[in-house]
Amino acid sequence: MGINPAAKRPVREADQGRTQRGAIGRFSQANRADPGLVHSETMKRIALLGATGSIGRQALEIIAAHPELELAAAASGSQPIDGLAPLTQVGGDLTELLERAQPDVVLNAVVGFAGLPATLWALERGIDLALANKESLVAAGELATKAWQGGGGRLLPVDSEHSAAQQCLEGRAPETVHSLVLTASGGPFRGRSREELGDVTPAEALAHPTWNMGPKITVDSATLANKGLELIEAHFLFGLDYDLIEVVIHPTSTVHALVRFRDGAALAHLGYPDMRVPISFALTYPDRAATPVPPLDLASGLTLEFEAPDLETFPLLALARHAGEQGGTYPCAFNAANEVAVAAFLEGRLSFLGIAETVEETLASVDGTPAGDLSELIEANAEARRLAERTAATA
Ligand SMILES: NC(=O)c1ccc[n+]([C@@H]2O[C@H](COP(=O)([O-])OP(=O)(O)OC[C@H]3O[C@@H](n4cnc5c(N)ncnc54)[C@H](OP(=O)(O)O)[C@@H]3O)[C@@H](O)[C@H]2O)c1
Repeated sequence: MGINPAAKRPVREADQGRTQRGAIGRFSQANRADPGLVHSETMKRIALLGATGSIGRQALEIIAAHPELELAAAASGSQPIDGLAPLTQVGGDLTELLERAQPDVVLNAVVGFAGLPATLWALERGIDLALANKESLVAAGELATKAWQGGGGRLLPVDSEHSAAQQCLEGRAPETVHSLVLTASGGPFRGRSREELGDVTPAEALAHPTWNMGPKITVDSATLANKGLELIEAHFLFGLDYDLIEVVIHPTSTVHALVRFRDGAALAHLGYPDMRVPISFALTYPDRAATPVPPLDLASGLTLEFEAPDLETFPLLALARHAGEQGGTYPCAFNAANEVAVAAFLEGRLSFLGIAETVEETLASVDGTPAGDLSELIEANAEARRLAERTAATA
């Protein structure tokens, strides 16, 4: 695969239906509804969940730089955050904090499935959700989409690729969209063979070439599981069928996403890899406030290189695509098994290659039945975690 005009094909009618019902339409509509509603002179009260993490710390910087953004509430998992915001909470049910704070925007920067209740809380109430916690949308895609449709609020992704894609798609008629390309840096092990990955250490996996992130997503980037999660995330965010979403390796992470249109045009979003850009875009939407990130310098020898991902060496991307296409609770199981396997790898209990093996075996063991409600989804997540723990212990 690659960015190859020869690979073009018309959007099928079925796909058009899907995209029209999908988020491209919803997002455009939300923007049309009242463009003046969110304005730089209007204070936005923000609840920041995951305030001590990589995204959380950068969000604090953005909030501090903009007087129209007010930190109303903050949460962490275990680290103390006393005094950081008028309302704070460490661990526990984060929806209790959200109920007390009644924010205008929830920035969910919790890592993992633990972020799910907060995602659903915001979506159900139509409260703007700036979503870094991609795991919640992957695990609960169908339930979250239903909640989003019911609530009618904005869902602004805080993932550089999805923020980029949303900006390329905003205001475009869904039937004009041909396909979406998500870029991946390839991580620290790009170009290595499977044999060369047998004994890589957590420290090596944590040395990401372009992004400075929390440990879980950094390992996910090294295995390409992160791009698999992003593929599923894009499917639910933009209502695009999986075969309309392509992943290409782009080592410098300059192009974050590209949308091809039916007339042969392609729009790409470029910028230096800096998460303050998508965080600021989501928090100050639609004002696109200034950030300290410098403008892109094209004359300094910028080159753009792309290549197809190596799916044999990094099987988690293909496993995620398959789980997404299977639907039901397969994406939830993919995420759950990956969370368990990454934790085991970081603790030295599992090899790097064992991460994909654990996920593959778990996916082969679950039944993937769709979850009718949140309690069924939580049970599917728990079951996948149990299976993954067992598999990881013997891998
Ligand atoms: N970092 C990036 O550049 C980046 C880019 C795109 C998307 N994302 C996504 O953003 C999310 C956060 O990533 P990160 O890199 O910022 O992770 P991180 O640095 O590991 O931070 C995770 C945050 O979540 C909190 N947390 C963990 N478990 C929790 C729980 N059960 N309840 C409440 N809070 C909990 C942590 O609190 P403690 O510190 O107290 O443990 C910490 O504040 C992930 O979903 C990731 O995929 C990150």
